[in-house]
Amino acid sequence: MAEIAVGQELMDKIVSLCKRRGFVFPSSEIYGGFNGFWDYGPYGSRMKRALENFWWHEMVETRDNIEGLDSTIIANPMIWKASGHLDQFSDLMTDCKSCKARHRVDQMEDPRTCPNCGSHDLTEPREFNLMMKTFVGPVFDDEHVAWLRAETCQPIFVDFHSVRVATRQKLPFGIAQIGKAFRNEINPRNFTFRSREFTQMEMEFFCDGEQGMEFFEYWKQERQKYYRRLGFDDSNMRIYVHEKLAHYAKAAIDIEVLFPFGWGELEGVHHRGTWDMSRHSEFSGNDLQYVDHDNGARKLMPTVIETSVGLDRTILALLTKAYDEEKAATKKADMEEDIRVVLHLPPVVAPIQVAVLPQSKKLKENAYALYKEIDRHFRAEYDETGSIGKRYRRQDEIGTPYCVTFDFDSLNDNAVTVRDRDTMEQERVNVTQLRDYLEKKTEI
Ligand code: GAP
Repeated sequence: MAEIAVGQELMDKIVSLCKRRGFVFPSSEIYGGFNGFWDYGPYGSRMKRALENFWWHEMVETRDNIEGLDSTIIANPMIWKASGHLDQFSDLMTDCKSCKARHRVDQMEDPRTCPNCGSHDLTEPREFNLMMKTFVGPVFDDEHVAWLRAETCQPIFVDFHSVRVATRQKLPFGIAQIGKAFRNEINPRNFTFRSREFTQMEMEFFCDGEQGMEFFEYWKQERQKYYRRLGFDDSNMRIYVHEKLAHYAKAAIDIEVLFPFGWGELEGVHHRGTWDMSRHSEFSGNDLQYVDHDNGARKLMPTVIETSVGLDRTILALLTKAYDEEKAATKKADMEEDIRVVLHLPPVVAPIQVAVLPQSKKLKENAYALYKEIDRHFRAEYDETGSIGKRYRRQDEIGTPYCVTFDFDSLNDNAVTVRDRDTMEQERVNVTQLRDYLEKKTEI
């Protein structure tokens, strides 16, 4: 194994690979980019979609008591008054008068010293609201102000009754949503870790307050199991227990993972009490209480347990965990060893699960027909350019777990060679068995 890069060096390698291989690159790059905004390229968007599907499958499709929602990004601005975001969703900021840099006070080692230039000439800390503003309608005045949602959960609370009535769900049940959130972060940093536009996957679980802590514990365990299935373990995942809680919250933990720049929050599991539902009842004038017809029509304000994860952070965590450089034999002149860059991504989220490679361009017709069969069931790619060795490397670098080579023998024995990304071992598999074989290998 080659000496693996760590810290900033590893981060630089990931950023460079993401750009070079079309995972993630700066938004509007030809105009110099736009700080805090990132585009997902061909492989990145496939990986993103795969991760969304995995989460949705685990949280919605395989659970009878979780429903899905796809709400708008812009909604009635009163939502953000009720949620407290317009009044409280802010960071304390200070400006350096010498170098003009702006800093979040809670992120400064010494709040009296500029981390950029060392000056002590700083402005008094001021609150800076993170909500992104826009206007709806023909006039750009205060009456027409609207906000891009800062979290995907608020529309879930607001739509609680509509979802409940439409689905006839009874407490306890949850509503899940995947979607964009926007925050005017002062210091977007660490690549996609802190962005201004990002995707959240949130699930709000509504229950009777008496069962709140029980469900909090349940979701805390369930969400850790989910990350273990994605390959995280005790060496790179830990729980941070919040000591200081919001006044309405009963308990809160973060699931943190190890990034090249240190531990970072991936997901929060929060017991939000009845705060959100009470506030939206109060501000909308619509009673969001639940009537428990199984219990003498008892009225109760649902308690909420939330699981909230950042999709972009998960992708970044998966990529950094998967990145590896290995020494491999080479046929290049004057070189005995070469570096193999490989992403050991779980097959369920790998952008390409199966690559089909003809041994020679002469086999194109058969190999391409096989690829067209495979791509109906797997995320697949066909590649016929360069030596087989080069094509394997290309696939290793984007994390493709299986390469299928169609060779001249395949014409006679109707079998292909399947090469495993991690072990680099090769196995001969009959084409009639191939789909079954790959399904077993790629299922989680
Ligand atoms: N509804 C609760 C909520 O939004 P949060 O801790 O502010 O809680 C939840 O955000 C998750 O969203 C975080 O754990 C993180 O993964 C992701 N997230 C938050 N801010 C982000 C940002 N600026 N860039 C990327 N991801 C972010």
